[in-house]
Amino acid sequence: MLYPYLSTNENGHLTIAGHDTVSLAQKYGTALFVLNVDRLQENCRIYVDTLRECFGDNAMPLFASKSLSFTGIYTLMNRFGMGTDIVSCGELYTAKKAGFPLEKAFFHGNNKTDSDIAYALDNKIGYFVVDNEDELLRLSAIAKEYGITQKILLRITPGIDPHTHKAIVTGSVDSKFGKAIETNQAYEIVELALALDNIELCGFHCHIGSQIFECQPFCDASDCMLAFIHEVKKRYHYEAKMLNLGGGFGVRYVESDPEVNIADNIRAVAAHVKTKCQEYGLSLPYILMEPGRSIVADTTVTLYTVGSVKEITGFRNYVSVDGGMTDNPRYALYQSAYTVLTANRMNEEADYACTVAGRCCESGDLIQENVMIAKPERGDILAVLTTGAYNYSMASNYNRLPRPAILLVGNNYEKLAVRRESFEDLCRLDLDL
Ligand code: LLP
Repeated sequence: MLYPYLSTNENGHLTIAGHDTVSLAQKYGTALFVLNVDRLQENCRIYVDTLRECFGDNAMPLFASKSLSFTGIYTLMNRFGMGTDIVSCGELYTAKKAGFPLEKAFFHGNNKTDSDIAYALDNKIGYFVVDNEDELLRLSAIAKEYGITQKILLRITPGIDPHTHKAIVTGSVDSKFGKAIETNQAYEIVELALALDNIELCGFHCHIGSQIFECQPFCDASDCMLAFIHEVKKRYHYEAKMLNLGGGFGVRYVESDPEVNIADNIRAVAAHVKTKCQEYGLSLPYILMEPGRSIVADTTVTLYTVGSVKEITGFRNYVSVDGGMTDNPRYALYQSAYTVLTANRMNEEADYACTVAGRCCESGDLIQENVMIAKPERGDILAVLTTGAYNYSMASNYNRLPRPAILLVGNNYEKLAVRRESFEDLCRLDLDL
């Protein structure tokens, strides 16, 4: 099985952390996200422990909460020793509701409105990750009105293209995020930040991409960022105290994806950071990393009930489920690969080729094409693995479908963290005419 906490019980049912998924589907209904909280803790521990091993107290992992945001996840992240990255005041509000210590929150985004800035200052957010001059100037002005000095990092584009990284140093300069080193604009924004009142420049941030399996692009990015810190020191006599290396480590969705050893990757990046600091005569900055996918993706399985099996002679077989792009838009958006299992027929041969379709009025509403599963029939339970990241957080109410519940499970633990949306919830914002 793709993950060790998934197994098959004596009834031939898929289990997650020892819980029978077919019983969970009956008890809570489908579609249902089932999140293994023990796995979540293990994933956090890898980052917390390995960063500590490499940098002592001089580092912290931040959970990129765009990958999964609901009140309880911030409670758990705080419990498991993580800071957080937020990209909107909605995420900030959710973290605040959970009592998350906002001094450990980093506010991202390429277009923070004046009211976003004010809201974050009202809530004493730890750091802004400033994207551009417009934001920087407004932040300085608004912080002045508040009579405070706001700590910031600047988002820098190191020019590493993780997908064709051997060709290096050109690719991702054309990005809506951050300021590029290559065009010199990164230096210009540093100069501005150093000159502005009510702004304390603490260091720099970069993020090179997501679902990256190789370690080299991260090492290259850290080399690049330290060269930048060195050059900034030479030019402006300012030495960065913090370096945020972003997120992006890949996760296994299907057997053919490589295994990623996150701890080893962190160690490799740490070695680069240390070597370059020595080479450039820099003090070791406080190191941040911002994983999202590699914290939550492999914690979760989505359970669906099969509604119909349609065999189109000479074409293909469609298996329709009671969910779809509304709870998992990633196949429709990126043709992402997923592992699909017939959860109540785990001992049967997976010899039925089919397309798993959602129930939206949209031909592109597919969960997966060309998968081999044990032949299902109406009423069977399908499990789609590795759905913890960018599924619930990207869910929608298209066709007025209520969003699924999120159930936490663990060793002798079962607790609903997000209840299923009701029809009443769907009409909550609608006003009578
Ligand atoms: N930090 C920043 C600034 C980011 O933009 C992101 C992801 C992360 C951290 C976390 O990256 P991760 O460790 O999760 O790879 N919706 C897409 C993924 C978008 C990622 C956006 N930024 C998907 O479903 O694959």
